[in-house]
Amino acid sequence: MRKNIVAGNWKMNTRLDDAVALVDEFLNLCSEPQTSVILAPPFPYLVPVVELTKDLNNIGVAAQNCSQNASGAFTGEVSAEMIASTGAEYVIVGHSERRQYFKEDELILSEKVNKALQNDLNPIYCVGELRDDRENGNYKEVIEKQLTKALFHLSELEMRKVILAYEPVWAIGTGLTATPEQAEEVHAFIRSLLADQYGDELANATSILYGGSCKPDNATELFACENIDGGLIGGASLKAAEFHAIVNAVKPS
Ligand code: PGA
Repeated sequence: MRKNIVAGNWKMNTRLDDAVALVDEFLNLCSEPQTSVILAPPFPYLVPVVELTKDLNNIGVAAQNCSQNASGAFTGEVSAEMIASTGAEYVIVGHSERRQYFKEDELILSEKVNKALQNDLNPIYCVGELRDDRENGNYKEVIEKQLTKALFHLSELEMRKVILAYEPVWAIGTGLTATPEQAEEVHAFIRSLLADQYGDELANATSILYGGSCKPDNATELFACENIDGGLIGGASLKAAEFHAIVNAVKPS
C-alpha cells in the first residue's frame, strides 16, 4: 500500500536559528510521527536539519530545488549530488514558483528529475494548473502535459521513487483551497494516467500529495479522500503546532 506523507516546504523563510528552533519545537510535539514527515528547509540549513532528524524514524529531509546540471561552472547553483551528500533524501522539483519565476519548463524539469534519481534522491514532483486553466476547464490537459513531458520517460523502477504533489496554483498561499471534490478529481486523474503508463500496481503504490493553503482546519477532509495521500504544506509548515496538527490529520495507512 502507498505511504501517507506530509511534507513541509519552508520556501525562502527562516534564519538559521529560526530553522533549528522550528525543528526542535516540532520534535518536541512529535518525535515519532506515525506518518512519514519530510522537512524541506532552504539549502543552507539542510545539514543542521539532517543532523537534528537523522536518528528519527519517519522524518526525512528534502531540498526545495536542484540544478539540471551535474557539476561545474554554474555559479549559485546546487547539484543533486551536493544535496545527497548532506544526507537529504528528497528534492522538490517543478514547484509552481520555480515554473513561474524561474521559467522552468518540462524539459528542464525532466533533467532535474534525472539528476535527482541518478543521485539516489527521491523527487517530489509538483503539478498544478493556473486559475485561468481551471476557469477554462482545461486543467486536466495542463496536468497531463506536466506529468508526461517531465516524468513519463522514466523506467518503472525510477518512477517508483517519485512522489507526486498536486498543487493548484490558484490555491498556493492564497487562502483559497481546492475543495475535497476538486482535489480528489485531479488526484484520481493523475493516478489513472500513471496506471495507463505504468500499470495499476505502480499507480496504486504512488503517493500523491495535495498542496495549496492546506491548514489544520481543512486537512482532515482533504486527506480523507481516497486518492489524497497527505500534503505538501507551505505557510502552515512554518508553525510547529499547525504542522503537527496537519501531520495528525492524515488517515492511518
Ligand atoms: P501554501 O503553499 O500551503 O502556503 O499554500 C503550498 C506550497 O507551495 O507547497
